[in-house]
Amino acid sequence: MRDNNFWKKLKASGKPILALAPMAGFTDSAFRRICKGYGADVLYSEMVSATALYYSDRIGTQKKGKNSKNPTIELMDFKKRAEKYYVVQLFGSKPEHFAAAAKLITAKIKPDGIDINFGCPVSKIIKQGAGADLMKNLAQSRAVIEAVLAETNLPVSIKIRAKSGEMGAIEFLKNISDLNIAAVMIHGRTLSQGFAGKPDFKLIKEVRKYFPGVVIANGGIIDLASAQEALKESGADGLGLARGILGRPWLFKEIKKNKQLDLKISQIFKLIISHATRVSKIKGKNAMIELRKHLVWYVQGLEGASKMREKLVTVNNLQELKKIIKEYKK
Ligand SMILES: Cc1cc2nc3c(=O)[nH]c(=O)nc-3n(C[C@H](O)[C@H](O)[C@H](O)COP(=O)(O)O)c2cc1C
Repeated sequence: MRDNNFWKKLKASGKPILALAPMAGFTDSAFRRICKGYGADVLYSEMVSATALYYSDRIGTQKKGKNSKNPTIELMDFKKRAEKYYVVQLFGSKPEHFAAAAKLITAKIKPDGIDINFGCPVSKIIKQGAGADLMKNLAQSRAVIEAVLAETNLPVSIKIRAKSGEMGAIEFLKNISDLNIAAVMIHGRTLSQGFAGKPDFKLIKEVRKYFPGVVIANGGIIDLASAQEALKESGADGLGLARGILGRPWLFKEIKKNKQLDLKISQIFKLIISHATRVSKIKGKNAMIELRKHLVWYVQGLEGASKMREKLVTVNNLQELKKIIKEYKK
């Protein structure tokens, strides 16, 4: 085992490891820091294209300044202490692309870990032979993992589905049981289930027998009760939280403290402003546009929120946001 294996350290604490699962378009630095504040132990980036990194010839020669940066590199930006433990997730299909990406990330980005995506069902990813499509191909998957392991000394994790086509999680993991993989996050749904239906947490329990590293269960964890059930049924070392924390990142704290927290509307608004302020500092002009999707999640379920939502989806700056919130309070 690599001695910087934070997964192992977290497991040794004996408490369930709580991870912010990767979500493209959502798990940026600002949101990761908010989740950290509520107790997330591991923070995944949005998925990053290994191919884009492979072809990037601007690395190391970029000038400083906001607009001169390679967008793929920018996607991986993080704040070391505020985002511990930070894992960059890669997607792609070619071992040589992963090798180049792992080398670059290890040398220049310096996260705490690197993850490989074997679960994404989005058609443009599948068409490249990446994500869940890669999971179907044992030889290629193994070559990709070996390529990453060869180019980094960081702990390497993988994210898979319960099943992709005919390929089940157990068969997949058996094929790589000799490789030094620190953790696996298993989305307990099959590829054909997509993002709906009940995740198979019993299968995750079975997987433990074939995988010596840290096992993280993912899928359908939306509140304290479903978190407890997932831990019990899966026997996993921890949980990966995705849509369940959108608009309610305090779910991390609820699970940590084993107590439901009913946030008042005023507390949610305070959180929204703090999130917005953070994003504005990091992303500048386009911050609010990127934040809109988070805002919609935050106000979901609030009384009379539909009118507010209409305004939030067109908000352009922090001042406008504050005004919308003030109007709601009236
Ligand atoms: C908007 C969105 C973006 C996602 N992006 C990624 C991603 O970049 N990489 C990945 O491995 N999974 C991604 N996922 C899948 C989640 O990490 C998670 O496996 C899935 O949503 C199931 O968990 P849930 O039922 O708790 O949402 C994404 C899911 C959503 C909803």
